[in-house]
Amino acid sequence: MVEVLKGAEAEGATYETIALPGGTIKPCKGCDVCHKKGICPQKDDFEDLKAKIIASDGVVLASPNYIFSVSAQLKAFMDRCCGVVHCLGFEGRYGAAVVTSGGGDEEPVAEYMNQFLIATGITPVGSVWANMGELPNYEFTPEIVENARSLGRKLVHDWQNQIASPEIAERKAQFKERMRQLMLYCRQEWPFEAQYWEKTRGL
Ligand SMILES: Cc1cc2nc3c(=O)[nH]c(=O)nc-3n(C[C@H](O)[C@H](O)[C@H](O)COP(=O)(O)O)c2cc1C
Repeated sequence: MVEVLKGAEAEGATYETIALPGGTIKPCKGCDVCHKKGICPQKDDFEDLKAKIIASDGVVLASPNYIFSVSAQLKAFMDRCCGVVHCLGFEGRYGAAVVTSGGGDEEPVAEYMNQFLIATGITPVGSVWANMGELPNYEFTPEIVENARSLGRKLVHDWQNQIASPEIAERKAQFKERMRQLMLYCRQEWPFEAQYWEKTRGL
């Protein structure tokens, strides 16, 4: 994570690192209020973090591989973004994923994080990972450091030039159409989200 941010910084980015220590973003209760009203009724750090991402140009997600997935802390945040997903509420921002593991399977975890970025409207530019079990003295190799810095530089570059690979552009378009169909189907039940779509991009 640190090396990705150094790469982004070298290209002129400023950043804030936000840790999710657990408990500060509670699990989603599935109450549907976010879909109806656009805001989560749970009183914790979620809405502030959502607002910070909306105010930003990009996001780097980082997680250890915990049982073939992201940490419970990050998953809680992802689940709380259900309303953001329906609205593609982070559209316009760029993102990247960072994963560490004790023994492997980093790539599917990174892919899951990138799919989450797409589902929130973010354009993922790539990912970087490290299998800590393979590292001598638990230290990142020069190759991993360079991959991470290069990802940070790419994040800024792709955002500046507003570019996405054809594969990512296609996946984003497909997911957006899926959400549009969902909104057409649920517009009565979820008025905030239907109105958000109408205001921002039409339904
Ligand atoms: C609850 C838990 C589950 C884990 N599950 C896996 C796993 O499924 N596969 C794996 O390779 N490593 C697993 N690990 C190891 C972590 O991924 C590893 O310790 C971490 O990525 C190291 O990075 P860090 O030093 O930045 O925490 C697990 C660790 C914990 C505590």
